[in-house]
Amino acid sequence: MTSSDGCCQCCFSFIITLGLTALFLWLSLRVDEPKCYVGSFYVPALNKTLNTPNNRTIVFVVELDNGNKDKGIQYDNVSLNFEIFVDANTTRPVGNATIVGFYQGHKKEAKKWGYFDSYGVNRTLVNGKVYFRVNFTTSVKYKILLWYTKRDKLWGGGNVEIDDSGAKTYRKGIRLGASLPIVESGAPKTRGCYCALLGLFLCILFFRFIFA
Ligand SMILES: *[C@@H]1O[C@H](CO)[C@@H](O)[C@H](O)[C@H]1NC(C)=O
Ligand SMILES: *[C@@H]1O[C@H](CO)[C@@H](O)[C@H](O)[C@H]1NC(C)=O
Repeated sequence: MTSSDGCCQCCFSFIITLGLTALFLWLSLRVDEPKCYVGSFYVPALNKTLNTPNNRTIVFVVELDNGNKDKGIQYDNVSLNFEIFVDANTTRPVGNATIVGFYQGHKKEAKKWGYFDSYGVNRTLVNGKVYFRVNFTTSVKYKILLWYTKRDKLWGGGNVEIDDSGAKTYRKGIRLGASLPIVESGAPKTRGCYCALLGLFLCILFFRFIFA
């Protein structure tokens, strides 16, 4: 083996190492935000056959989906805030609820059932229907292997149309907003960085050994 062969091989293994490390980093640090939906929504006060307009209870099911194949999500408390539309552009608050923080494994869906006492609702029609606005805010940490990322703030909202039985009109869940982070996540988190450096080091060791 000439020295130029050795150099070429070294160069080649270096490039492969670099490529694989980049791939490894991209795969391990890339996270998808969880998706939040209103699954069901029921306002007994607006159920025409029930005829109990003074009932203040509102019942809901909120779904939280972790679409990540290999990352868990730790949710802080999820704050829900409910409003009713009084015209096409204006809402009035009707109440709040909290989903207690929890851990969700990868590729898992959580259906969180809850209810709260509203400040009272009237059948206020906007374009012939009653609409509610549901907003959520929470913070999440992603679990990558053994490490947690920094917290990301998430929020979103959506409009829920109510039918004559006081329930959400469509069976399909209503996606709560593009859940944009309020504060940019700043992708490579501190601990993610240590993890990446360790990964790089192990990769180099591994390929030095293979190509030696
Ligand atoms: C509305 O009230 C009627 C009469 O009590 C009941 O049968 C029906 O299930 C209620 N609607 C919903 C969506 O619960
Ligand atoms: C809502 O806002 C739009 C656009 O600003 C306006 O054209 C419309 O008249 C408003 N509707 C009501 C009910 O205030």
